Amino acid sequence: MSSNRTLMVLPGDGVGPEVVKETLRVVDWLGKNKSISFNIKEGLVGGASYDKYGTPLTDETLADSIDSDAILFGAVGGPKYEGVPFEKRPENGLLKLRKEMDLFANLRPAMVFPALVDASSLKPEIISGLDILIVRELTGGIYFAEPRGIEEVNKDTKKGYDTNLYTTPEIERIGRVAFDLARARKGKLTSVEKANVMMSGVLWREVMNTLFDKEGNGIEMSHMYADNCAMQLVRDPKQFDVIVTDNLFGDILSDCAAMLTGSLGMLPSASLGSIDKNTGKRHAMYEPVHGSAPDIAGKGLANPLAELLSLSMLLRYSFEMKEESDLIDNAVSKALESGPRTPDIMAPGREKAGTKDMMDLVIRKLEEITN
Ligand code: NAD
Ligand code: IPM
Ligand code: MN
Repeated sequence: MSSNRTLMVLPGDGVGPEVVKETLRVVDWLGKNKSISFNIKEGLVGGASYDKYGTPLTDETLADSIDSDAILFGAVGGPKYEGVPFEKRPENGLLKLRKEMDLFANLRPAMVFPALVDASSLKPEIISGLDILIVRELTGGIYFAEPRGIEEVNKDTKKGYDTNLYTTPEIERIGRVAFDLARARKGKLTSVEKANVMMSGVLWREVMNTLFDKEGNGIEMSHMYADNCAMQLVRDPKQFDVIVTDNLFGDILSDCAAMLTGSLGMLPSASLGSIDKNTGKRHAMYEPVHGSAPDIAGKGLANPLAELLSLSMLLRYSFEMKEESDLIDNAVSKALESGPRTPDIMAPGREKAGTKDMMDLVIRKLEEITN
């Protein structure tokens, strides 16, 4: 079926193609049962692209991605590429997509499904009912700023260095996104940096305070140092509603938040650009928080739910399909209540599921809910 909605699918490496393949079964299901169709284009990214073209992202794949309404991304990287020159590494394909499309706002929601309370390494009372959102700045900071490099100091010594740099507009635009999201939730925002040590952190706090004075109506904002935030996330994560932070701290804190939900295999994300004033559209890529999981890749054991929940975010944020997005979230919740589970979220008395079994179960739940 042809459609005016274009979806670029970039499975990548390791478990990426495994979880994307299963997630596309739900895209199919939506086509057959909800008459929602997409014009799907698939491309290579990361190591898969490097193996074929000698680069982790070709100009053609980048152009197709820019042209699409939304991108569904798997994962990139793996030990096979450790010896590859730095700029050709798989991860650079992902970083280039984010940068070229200006996907500056990365939304990483960490929600504990009731049935997964026991899968977390934390006590049930600490995480039960948890629903927080990390808003990570994604196109600035130490990931991209210059200068960076490795240089020789003398014949025995080299120096390796990176720069963490943020400008006022970069902080303001991610701050605004976080304000809007907080306003639509419980209204509680925590801005996280290390203003006690880093100049970029001093500016971050200053800009967030000025923005709050001008545009912070309807929300509360507090500041927290990143090291304390890591500790507070495992001590009492329910104190948070929305956390806004820079690229590097957001990367680290979101892996930490993933474990609150039971597994890295459960955490989806949306990477969004700004809304074009003329068309009302924005670039968007949906990517699970996890990587290519080399330790389990090729074994059919990966949890496909982070990828599926990323598809759910795609429907919600790029196509305003709230009903279908809720339907998927609901089916995931029901699939976790009983039946087999992938090893990362295993519980006593449950049968072991592989990637495909897990999606079979979700699709059965989709059928049950809609019939
Ligand atoms: P990882 O996220 O790939 O794996 C960390 C741990 O979580 C592993 O034990 C893995 O088995 C487990 N895990 C991850 N996803 C899972 C899933 N869906 N189901 C069950 N268990 C899962 O992180 P890593 O091992 O540090 O990195 C491996 C490679 O992936 C590296 O090359 C890294 O750069 C890359 N990476 C890519 C992305 C991305 O493409 N978005 C994100 C993170 C890491
Ligand atoms: C993530 C990943 C990426 C990052 C890597 C693979 C470039 O860890 O999306 O969390 O550091 O942003
Ligand atoms: Mn990460």
